[in-house]
Formats: sequence, structure tokens, C-alpha cells
Amino acid sequence: MLRILSGIQPSGTLHIGNYFGMMKPAIELQERGAAFYFIADYHSMTSLTDAAERRANTLGVALDFLACGLDPKKAVFWRQSDIPEVCELMWILGTLTPMGLLERAHSYKDKTAKGLSPNFGLFSYPVLMAADILLFDSNLVPVGRDQKQHVEMTRDIAIKFNLTYGETFVIPEPSIKAEVATVPGLDGQKMSKSYGNTIELFGEEKAVKKKIMSIVMDSRTPAEPKPDADQNLAVQLLKLVAPAGVALEYENRLRAGGLGYGDLKKALFEHYWTGFAAARARRAELAANLDYVESVLKDGAERARAIASGVVGRARQASGLK
Ligand code: ADP
Ligand code: TRP
Repeated sequence: MLRILSGIQPSGTLHIGNYFGMMKPAIELQERGAAFYFIADYHSMTSLTDAAERRANTLGVALDFLACGLDPKKAVFWRQSDIPEVCELMWILGTLTPMGLLERAHSYKDKTAKGLSPNFGLFSYPVLMAADILLFDSNLVPVGRDQKQHVEMTRDIAIKFNLTYGETFVIPEPSIKAEVATVPGLDGQKMSKSYGNTIELFGEEKAVKKKIMSIVMDSRTPAEPKPDADQNLAVQLLKLVAPAGVALEYENRLRAGGLGYGDLKKALFEHYWTGFAAARARRAELAANLDYVESVLKDGAERARAIASGVVGRARQASGLK
């Protein structure tokens, strides 16, 4: 059976780029195979050093995933640090990972360019990610485009291990949905919590409305026809949050002339707000029932650990550790 695995760091509040790029495709894939999803709290240590914030974010990600439709009967869902075997496998894989491979990582280069201090954890981030993936014999890894290189590194490391010690690991493939590979943020760049250009998945009504209404557009008058309407940021976001056909209708109205940007942005907010209304209500219910959320993660960790210990045992055996 196809094994699908992905993780998300609890390094902040999730935004609709995370949702459309990774969470939604991952949740859809739980119908297509054995799905394994986890909260990458070890990874978050490379950028966040506030314990209380990590705890709060971890709970937030758990609520987000469950509210958005992750079904614990179909998918195994856990906290990365509940399975410390991943750190052992990271060491084993690290001994076969060339420095040059890690030095080429875009994510490492971007993060250090943005001022994150280049510690060993940040540098070795892709090796921990390789361990996450290989520890579960994963076939498919649903992620946004920015994580593609990390999955390719995982493949390289797994191939090297298999050549060195004999066939041990399954070689995974990234799964990237072209139409949501890079969701744009409020400024038109990739939406990312580190660029301060996000629309939160479960943001507060007034705050999100304010953000959406302040998206900067050009100075053409409402009456002017806009032949480049498909490039409009609000239209692109509307395509994601509104039912099929709605964005096209707005695109056509812009193209024809007569639609003001204020009305377009209002429509974007309304569709965002109603589109996530059911999930928002589920999230509030879950937040009032934290024992249930904790029990899902605990049960997930037990199921995941049973698999992980078998795979790490295979790697130990192959490499002569026992
Ligand atoms: P951020 O850039 O906000 O820090 P992360 O790096 O934590 O987000 O990404 C978590 C997941 O969401 C990854 O699978 C990533 O590829 C996906 N993702 C993040 N931002 C976007 C985006 N703007 N468009 C599509 N996918 C995204
Ligand atoms: N690096 C991923 C991100 O920032 C999170 C992650 C950690 C992950 N381990 C993973 C994603 C394994 C997929 C598979 O989004």
C-alpha cells in the first residue's frame, strides 16, 4: 500500500499558503494510501527557542490539522519528538551525507541570509528531514515547492546508504500540486511567515479583513478595463478560497471594467471567511476538548513508533551496528 508522509513545523501560526500548498493535498491523500503526518517540533528548534511558544504552536498545528479534516482513523498523526528513533537515524544518515550536498541547500542559504544564526541544527536540517521520511518507508511526500530540494536530498542520501550497506530504504518521491505549489502572499511574493505577508488560516476576523483590504493594487480607476485581470493577486487568492467559477466571474468583471478593487477585496475576505467557517467551528470544539487531541497524538505516536523501530533496526543491522 502506498505510504504517504509529511510534516509541518510548529514554528508559527499556519497560513493559507501552508493550507493549500501542503495540508489540503495531504488530507486529500489520506484517502489514497496509508498516511503518516507529524508535527516537526525537533525541526522548529532551528528557528524558535521559546519553549512555551513551541508548546502553544504544536497544539495549534494539531488543532488546525484535525479541524481541516485529518482523520485519525485513516492517518497516523503524531509529534516528531515522541519518536526519538528519528535522531538515531539522523546520525546514521549524517555519516553518509556529503558536506557539499548540505551547503547547496536553498533553505539553509535563505535562512542564514535572513539573519538566522547558522548553527549545526540548521545546517543538518535536511538530514533530520531525510530521517523523518526514510524512517517510515515513505513513497510519497506531499509538500509545497520550497521543500522539493529537501526531498531530493533525501533520495540522494537513501541511494547512498543502499549502495554502501545494501538495499535498506525505500526511495521517496515528492508530491507537489502545480496549481498551489507557491501560494502568493499579500505582497505578491511567496506567502511565508518569515515575510510577514500571510493570511492566517484561522485568523481573527477584523485583523484578517484589515490585512486583505490593505493589499496594494495599481492606480487604475474602477471603470478602466484590465486585460491583465488573471494576474491580479486578489483574483489568484479568490481562486483558492472561493467555490469554482467565482474567481473567473470576478476576473471577467475586472477585464471588462467597472469593478473596483475595494469590492474585489471585500469578496476575497467574504469567501475566505465563509470558506473556512465549518473548519473554524470544528477547531473551536476541538480546542474545548484537549484531552481528545492529546489522545490522538499519543495513539499516533504509538502506532508510528512500532514502524520506526523496525526500520531503524533494519538500518542498524545493515550498517553493522548489531
Ligand atoms: P513558511 O514559509 O511560512 O515558514 P513552512 O516552511 O513552515 O512555511 O512550510 C510548511 C509547509 O507549507 C511546506 O510543505 C511548504 O512547502 C508549504 N508552504 C509554505 N508556504 C507555502 C506557499 N506560499 N505556497 C505553497 N506551499 C507553501
Ligand atoms: N521541512 C518541512 C517544512 O519546513 C517540514 C518537515 C520536516 C517535513 N520533516 C519533514 C516535510 C518530512 C515533509 C517530510 O515545511
